[in-house]
Amino acid sequence: MNQRGLPCLAILISGRGTNLQAFIDACANGHLNAQVGLVISNNPQAGGLQRARDAGIPARCIDHRDYHSREEFDQALVDVIDANAVDLVVLAGFMRILTPVFITAFLGRLVNIHPSLLPLYPGLHTHQRALDAGDTTAGTTVHFVTQELDGGPPVLQARVPVYTHDTAESLAARVAKEEHIIYPLAAQWLIEERLVWTDTGAFFDGQRIPATGIQYTADLL
Ligand code: GRF
Repeated sequence: MNQRGLPCLAILISGRGTNLQAFIDACANGHLNAQVGLVISNNPQAGGLQRARDAGIPARCIDHRDYHSREEFDQALVDVIDANAVDLVVLAGFMRILTPVFITAFLGRLVNIHPSLLPLYPGLHTHQRALDAGDTTAGTTVHFVTQELDGGPPVLQARVPVYTHDTAESLAARVAKEEHIIYPLAAQWLIEERLVWTDTGAFFDGQRIPATGIQYTADLL
């Protein structure tokens, strides 16, 4: 919690930070009852660092290249987050594989967004893989983070159509628009404790969430 009693989010990025921007905007317009208290990038060039600074949010780079091991890097992240009374840790395009040092520290309050309809296409190049497979629907998934890469319980999933003229870029842009809606929404549910993680899975309003997550529709807003 921050001094005004608002839940505090730490957002971890590596790149341009459009999802970070969606969180900043959702906090400003009242869709998300929280404060982005801290932004961390492992990449000094990440455009999202400037977005944070423009919004007056403390932003720092913790460069993974300054550490001898993944575990040491992860411990540095944990230390900074723990020093900031963070309630929820949001991975938003954070391009480092995290070790148990980090994941166990925040289990149940650590979420990611992955640009595919998980369990389809964990890993990289999701849009090209969807195009190559001839999929007619693509999308994005908010999920809890566990040790398994892109494999924690899905929470909320948004679908978009794939058109015959799509490129990976055009599809990525369509998916990103949905990400900017569903990711702050899922964070709001977590803050309200409508959404909870237990070692038997993810629950929303006391109901077990289906294996591919809740399917987003506009009436959920
Ligand atoms: C998004 O595609 C998200 O699904 C993935 O990383 C990308 C981050 O984009 N995890 P941005 O930096 O938020 O614009």
